[in-house]
Amino acid sequence: MTQAANIGHIAIVGLGVMGRNLALNLADHGHTVIAYDLQPAAALQAQEAAVARGAAASGQVLAVATPAELVAALAPPRKILLMVNAGAPVDAVLERLLPLLAAGDIVIDGGNSRFTDTERRSAALAARGLHFVGSGISGGEEGARHGPALMPGGSAEAWAAIRPLFEAIAAQAHGQPCVAHIGPGGAGHYVKMVHNGIEYADMQLICEAYALLAAAGLDNDPMAAVFARWNAGPLQSYLIEITAKILAQRDADTGRHVLDLILDKAGQKGTGQWTLVDAAERAVVVSAMGAAVDARVLSSLKAARVAASTQLAGPDGRIDPATLPGGAEAWVALVHDALMAAKIVAYAQGFELMATAGRERGWGLDLAAIARLWRGGCIIRAQFLDRIAEAQAAPSTAGAPVANLMLAPWFRDTLARVQGPWREVLATAVRTGVPVPAMSAALAYHDSWRSPRLSANLLQAQRDFFGAHTYERIDRPAGQHFHTEWPQA
Ligand code: 6PG
Repeated sequence: MTQAANIGHIAIVGLGVMGRNLALNLADHGHTVIAYDLQPAAALQAQEAAVARGAAASGQVLAVATPAELVAALAPPRKILLMVNAGAPVDAVLERLLPLLAAGDIVIDGGNSRFTDTERRSAALAARGLHFVGSGISGGEEGARHGPALMPGGSAEAWAAIRPLFEAIAAQAHGQPCVAHIGPGGAGHYVKMVHNGIEYADMQLICEAYALLAAAGLDNDPMAAVFARWNAGPLQSYLIEITAKILAQRDADTGRHVLDLILDKAGQKGTGQWTLVDAAERAVVVSAMGAAVDARVLSSLKAARVAASTQLAGPDGRIDPATLPGGAEAWVALVHDALMAAKIVAYAQGFELMATAGRERGWGLDLAAIARLWRGGCIIRAQFLDRIAEAQAAPSTAGAPVANLMLAPWFRDTLARVQGPWREVLATAVRTGVPVPAMSAALAYHDSWRSPRLSANLLQAQRDFFGAHTYERIDRPAGQHFHTEWPQA
């Protein structure tokens, strides 16, 4: 344990796998990292791991035993990165640290904290002359070690101070670090929350593609080859890449595919649900994410589903390739296009949510910069984010940003091209009983957007009937409200 003073460039509190890997990443880039954990062994382990890297390392990790030692070891203004679990642990650490800090010091929360908590903490620290940075960090253990995507939110002053450290450790995409100052207060954690909402939708859509291919009789090994091939085309992404690897993986004990041995009950830590709650409050539709969260919930009801499967009648969820035009090979191509189409919708919904929240909160979010930083390091990194960055940066032909990503030229043209297969795939899924909640929610959203007249005229009539809520008329100026004396029973 070190007693040295004023030598640390940054401290990390919480040396679990993520914290340790970030410490090593920072040390690789020449920084001296002070490591503190409630379990002293974890901090020492990080120090030892840094030493074990040998002479190639230009920086170091030094373990300390107490918050007071941590504060003494850092050069001011102090930068302290919290890598503890979101929620009460963040407040507990802050309570211990705050009395020891001096004006101008910067505390960074690198966990998946709820953005409203980050706003509260920012205000509390600002009142003491301290900076609080809520930073989304994506990319899992590997990302933390070799280059995550970073989404810091907080004051411009704090960003200027941490920028060199963050740019050094971030992943690179197209020669640029995958980090940008997202905005003030909770903006960084908000954008990370939406990243996770999109992640949920993207993962669910891939799961539905897997289910559709499996229902048509495609085995894991040929399917691994299909996903590997898709990863060389417009669907190229980290999630498609790992899906190919997952499909091919064999279990050492049984020789069977690991995937076939995994229980079909999904876990979730909450960021997807937070996205839905926030979107509902802003009246933004994120139905693909909603379907993804619901799918995880339904998956967790394993025993109930097994029981219901013997009681609820319907088709058996098998697709006979012989009944499909073009057979199995053509089916793979159709599912590819359906996945592409639904993925566009999921991202369109995520970007619309960020655009709305950014406007409402006055965060000044740069959506093109967010799309650019997501091109590397994070879980949803994908080639397709280049297109999103282009679309967000380029004004529409009307000179204003497009109302929805689906309307940007590349996305509009792609949707026009792949919607035939998308409809074909969903029709087949409905006929054969394969559940595809996110793909179908995405299509319903797309079709609602392209409907100049929806059935809401009847809805307004119903509201007026039972509650005299009034309606507007198509043959009268907007803003005038009418009521009909409906025949009551
Ligand atoms: C990331 C991930 C990560 C997330 C996990 C687990 O960007 O690295 O989004 O932050 O916490 O993937 O999330 P769930 O347990 O909710 O699936």
